[in-house]
Amino acid sequence: MTWTPSPMPSATPNSPTPRIVLGVAGGIAAYKAVELLRLLREKGYHVAPVLTPDATRFVGLVTFSALASEPARTSLYGDPTTPIPHTYLGSNASLIVVAPATAHLIARYAMGLADDLLTATLLATRAPVLLCPAMHTEMWVQPSVQENLATLRRRGVLVLEPEVGPLAGGDVGTGRLPQPEKIAALIEKIVEGYRGALSGVRVLISAGGTREAIDPVRVLSNRSSGRQGYALADAACRMGATVTLVSTVERSLNLDTVSAIEVVPVESAAEMHEAMMKRALESECVIMAAAVADFAPRASSEKLKKRDGVPELHLERTPDILADLVAQRANGQIIVGFAAETTDVLANALEKLRDKDVDLLVVNDVAAPGVGFEHATNEVLLLSRHEEPERVSLRSKEAVAWEILARVAALLPQGAQ
Ligand code: CTP
Repeated sequence: MTWTPSPMPSATPNSPTPRIVLGVAGGIAAYKAVELLRLLREKGYHVAPVLTPDATRFVGLVTFSALASEPARTSLYGDPTTPIPHTYLGSNASLIVVAPATAHLIARYAMGLADDLLTATLLATRAPVLLCPAMHTEMWVQPSVQENLATLRRRGVLVLEPEVGPLAGGDVGTGRLPQPEKIAALIEKIVEGYRGALSGVRVLISAGGTREAIDPVRVLSNRSSGRQGYALADAACRMGATVTLVSTVERSLNLDTVSAIEVVPVESAAEMHEAMMKRALESECVIMAAAVADFAPRASSEKLKKRDGVPELHLERTPDILADLVAQRANGQIIVGFAAETTDVLANALEKLRDKDVDLLVVNDVAAPGVGFEHATNEVLLLSRHEEPERVSLRSKEAVAWEILARVAALLPQGAQ
């Protein structure tokens, strides 16, 4: 498995209820998914089942609907209450599990096809995904199946290997879906591994690119989308933290975290500085994920007119928020900085870690493909004073957020959680 949940303390009653999408593909082992659903509901999770059309040849939607938290779905179309079901399911999931995952489902997912509700949901999510393949041994050992799984693993998808045992054709071999209890226990480990890890911790996060006014209508800004900062806020909230997000952008938060996260809208570096400094003293962890302008013009109070010619912008340094946060750091407070590098990444980043005196530096190699401002994915190096640098390979910004916060939880003084 490539995505490991942090081995942290168990859940608190205040953490939001995990929302699990239970995908079921068309294989004989689909009958075990009914028991899995029951076990997940027993653990108190919100479970939304999604069956492929072929799965309904093996098991009935009615059974799933009766046991689940919301009606079982099989189609992208025809539900007037949820007109875009794949994005609703995908964006609100804490985890998507596919049990059983057939060879066909795995191939479609690896190819990026979205020809039914389940595959569309898999593409529309940034939540961790756990596949539980089940099929005949001959199919399981096919290079095509193994290569598709290798591709998905590389992208951060978790795979629970099938077991050896009697198969539906009467033969014995690898391909059996593990017992529902075993799958449910793994799901619990993934979900509870992060739930509660930051329980009782107040986390202050900045997000987005600052906008520096030139005049009442024009700004100097950058391409930051705020996505990594929002992903951090969402993940921290799910880990039990009390979260304040100081942001220059407005993005949607998930159903289960939206009411718990306090969002403080700001625009300029100066406004962000004020908002962060005011709240930092009452936070055990501060994360500067925002792309703050280093320079800003002195804003004109009136709109600059074309007829007055091309204006010359005189830029001045903005406050260095991170430096000021470090200067007033409270005892035991964890401060996380971000760094964007393009050359000599490790050497430059190690120097920055020392200079900035932060507890954790998240380094983006912005020259690498799929990394940084305009991408949904990220690949980072995590640097802290007494630990070896840790590379978090390319994955969704949400999955990167879990890794960063797992490190934060490990750095917090014992008893802070
Ligand atoms: N940052 C800040 N205030 C600023 C500028 C940046 O708090 N006015 C924070 C960012 O939020 C981020 C880190 O500092 O956490 C980014 O630093 P970076 O721009 O990589 O480093 P610099 O020291 O500005 O170095 P460089 O010359 O490489 O830009």
